[in-house]
Amino acid sequence: MKHQRWSMCGGVGRSRGKMCGIFAYLNYNVARERRYILEVLFNGLRRLEYRGYDSSGIAIDADLRSPVAIDKGEGNDGRKEASRLPYNSAPPLVFRQEGKIESLVRSVYSEVDAMDLNLEKSFSVHAGIAHTRWATHGVPSPRNSHPQSSGACNEFLVVHNGIITNYEVLKETLIRHGFTFESETDTEVIPKLAKFVFDKARDEEGEQTVTFSQVVTEVMRQLEGAYALIFKSAHYPNELIACKRGSTLILGVKELSDDKNSGKLFHDVKALTKDEKPKELFFSSDLCAIVEHTKNYLAIEDNEVVHIKDGCVSILKFDYGREKPASVQRALSVLEMEVEQIKKGNYDHFMQKEIHEQPHSLTTTMRGRLKDNSVVLGGLKDHLKTIRHSRRIIFIGCGTSYNAALAARPFLEELSGIPVTMELASDLLDRQGPIYREDTAVFVSQSGETADTLLALEYALGNGALCVGVTNTVGSTLARRTHCGVHINAGCEIGVASTKAYTSQIVVMAMMALAIGADKISTQARREAIINGLSDLPKKVAEVLKLDGEMRDLAKSLIDTQSLLVFGRGYNYATALEGALKVKEVALMHSEGLLAGEMKHGPLALVDETLPIIVIATHDACFSKQQSVIQQLHARKGRLIVMCSVGDAASVCPMGSCRVIEVPQVADCLQPVINIIPMQLLAYHLTVLRGYDVDQPRNLAKSVTTE
Ligand code: F6R
Repeated sequence: MKHQRWSMCGGVGRSRGKMCGIFAYLNYNVARERRYILEVLFNGLRRLEYRGYDSSGIAIDADLRSPVAIDKGEGNDGRKEASRLPYNSAPPLVFRQEGKIESLVRSVYSEVDAMDLNLEKSFSVHAGIAHTRWATHGVPSPRNSHPQSSGACNEFLVVHNGIITNYEVLKETLIRHGFTFESETDTEVIPKLAKFVFDKARDEEGEQTVTFSQVVTEVMRQLEGAYALIFKSAHYPNELIACKRGSTLILGVKELSDDKNSGKLFHDVKALTKDEKPKELFFSSDLCAIVEHTKNYLAIEDNEVVHIKDGCVSILKFDYGREKPASVQRALSVLEMEVEQIKKGNYDHFMQKEIHEQPHSLTTTMRGRLKDNSVVLGGLKDHLKTIRHSRRIIFIGCGTSYNAALAARPFLEELSGIPVTMELASDLLDRQGPIYREDTAVFVSQSGETADTLLALEYALGNGALCVGVTNTVGSTLARRTHCGVHINAGCEIGVASTKAYTSQIVVMAMMALAIGADKISTQARREAIINGLSDLPKKVAEVLKLDGEMRDLAKSLIDTQSLLVFGRGYNYATALEGALKVKEVALMHSEGLLAGEMKHGPLALVDETLPIIVIATHDACFSKQQSVIQQLHARKGRLIVMCSVGDAASVCPMGSCRVIEVPQVADCLQPVINIIPMQLLAYHLTVLRGYDVDQPRNLAKSVTTE
């Protein structure tokens, strides 16, 4: 089967990565004080914070060594070293710290103070790099944090996202050549390898013969695994090189006009190869860290080597088979993201903001896609025929994304007539479950970088299935590796707990179901009703958000409980799972989502007067079955909280015997979008009241890029 990709092509098989973050800032022909440069780097790290990390670090330039120090062979730190640095350069300064970014910030300012470094010193060109690390190889500690260094004089410094799978072999070889290692990381081999390559070339061919990009491409030739890397070197002052294989890396470009330093748009990297205009350039593993500086960006592709030198950007395409990498031209894209998205605005937490943003995020998800009673999904239209002929559709994802797919399953089955099966990505991989060429595998992932989902994608690609992606992240690995797909366009989601992405994912999958089933006359009326329901959805979501105060009161009544059960079925089985997941992950309270149809097969034994149980009983084909569940729980004196459609309180809860949450009614298959919102609000308020971290729950990271 031959398929066309949905967005940028390229990419090689990917292995596991880390939940780290990269940020770099280079100002060219524009004066920036050291303090300003530090703040840009710190701010970049703060924007990456939400992804999860346990340590961080930066590297900036020191002051040039004094002629006396140079003659004595001293580094900037005063130690006597047999430095082989260029005459007029100084070893860059590296600062690394375990724990929160603010502790790095404090330690940098106190170290800078102790070494009497002038923060007001201005640089017309300067290259700084920064990193947040999530420990995999070695405990969180300054020595294991990045930038990792080639050695005493910091001749080569590297920040790295990903995993170098052959680092042990490389390390042994480098040790044999006299290198000593300071950290337990896989990353440390990279700067040391760069120094090895550089020294060898210089010894063989003399001073200044090897270029920075030659060093980096030679290093790439030796590396196996997945990586996004930024190199900074004292041998190539004011230059930066970025390259990647697997992990995401973005270049941001901001040209500064002579008068007001306002951003101006470039359209092509070619325009950046010749001009000397003042500009600021950024590298980041996440668009969120770039959007406040510029909307002009380039998603770097696998095996590209992006070199910034003298204000020019050149891109080489690395190829294992070729001695010399070819030069490539790439167009810059314009980011469709607003700065407000990465700020809390008037809200206390990102999770709270993202819950309340849903009328808007859903509008953006549907924008331009619903037309004259039909659905237009540009990324799918050429593949609809293949999907309609599939033997089965398999939804694959993890966590909330899996739950969103579960919510979409009933109406995809109904509208397509094709069997739809569900797979948690890790379980599919553990079982190596059968996938065939006749299957359509739909991968759902907010980040587009979840390791299990991506490994399952490689597995499905290997088995010849048509692979469709549903993601929030333009340029993500999922978007690049699937044959086609749909962006959910929910906007940057920063709270670790997924909220607005969940509802946008369901809506995208509803639109997919409508598009796939569009050839069936028999379901036309049903499809039209759902399309009307979709158009109305943002308004209904705004209505259900008014339950905020009520959910806060409910949270107060549950603050000390140990455990919570949530029963759902049909369209709202997913709501039960997702509601319980939200409470579990942020409020750190045990909660379990259960299929109501399974109640009598075990969970009923738990029911007593103390255990709170939420039953989702909004109006749909399963309503009477849920009424019966409520009666049975009631008969056992269960502590019931029932979610029902507006006006149904009396029929679900005779004589006010339980607490009721009334929600607006929408088309049955869209009801999960409405019903999850009170659960999100409950989880949010429970977390605040219990005093836990809302946006960065204990032990969790936004993007789970390790298995
Ligand atoms: C829960 C949550 C996680 C993610 C899961 C998959 O709120 O955020 O369960 O849904 O880690 O992440 P993505 O969607 O990025 O693949």
